[in-house]
Amino acid sequence: MMNDVMNRIAEIGIVPVIRIDDVTKAPRLAEALCAGGVPVAEVTFRAAGADRAIRAMRESVPDMLVGAGTVLTREQVDSACEAGAQFVVSPGFNPQNVAYCQTKGIPIFPGCVTPGEIECALSYGLEVLKFFPAEAFGGLKTIKALSAPFSMVKFMPTGGISLDNLASYIAHPSIIACGGSYMVTAKLLEENRWEEITALCRKSVEIIQEVRNHG
Ligand code: 3PG
Repeated sequence: MMNDVMNRIAEIGIVPVIRIDDVTKAPRLAEALCAGGVPVAEVTFRAAGADRAIRAMRESVPDMLVGAGTVLTREQVDSACEAGAQFVVSPGFNPQNVAYCQTKGIPIFPGCVTPGEIECALSYGLEVLKFFPAEAFGGLKTIKALSAPFSMVKFMPTGGISLDNLASYIAHPSIIACGGSYMVTAKLLEENRWEEITALCRKSVEIIQEVRNHG
């Protein structure tokens, strides 16, 4: 069953994966994403201060959907929730962390790439899963094969997504959105290239709309 957060992510179709080291840039980055039609971000806990970046984004653009990525521990779940994160993403399937997110009432999208992991996720009532690292685990071909027995599962492939393969992923009915770091690379962020970030978001939205409007 899709909740509001999932519906919004599905509607946008792309989730920028962001590693932000300089938290003071978070508000400007949030504006740049929204200006490109992508009012969502997955802020990874790979950077210290991810929780402060999440809070800064939520405060500067309250309408934006901000999630926490690379969440590996219970402490990070707590820190993400306190910062105002609206969803949690993890690279793999950790039953304890899934259960903890569920008790806290925050949607979690764990990474699952095998039938066994997907079955475990289903037993926790999860039907929207990250598929990571997508390209390395066979990309669309693997998702197509998994969608046969698991037709109820919706995937968010991440890892190796780019403007070149976004359309082929989005065209698959089991894929509600893709994640990727290509819209906010370390270099673009470091050099404050906000217009380029906005342009990459806008281009991604155009690709998604083209697929959805015309197949
Ligand atoms: C992630 O954290 O989900 C990935 O590192 C993003 O993968 P990408 O850099 O290939 O987009």
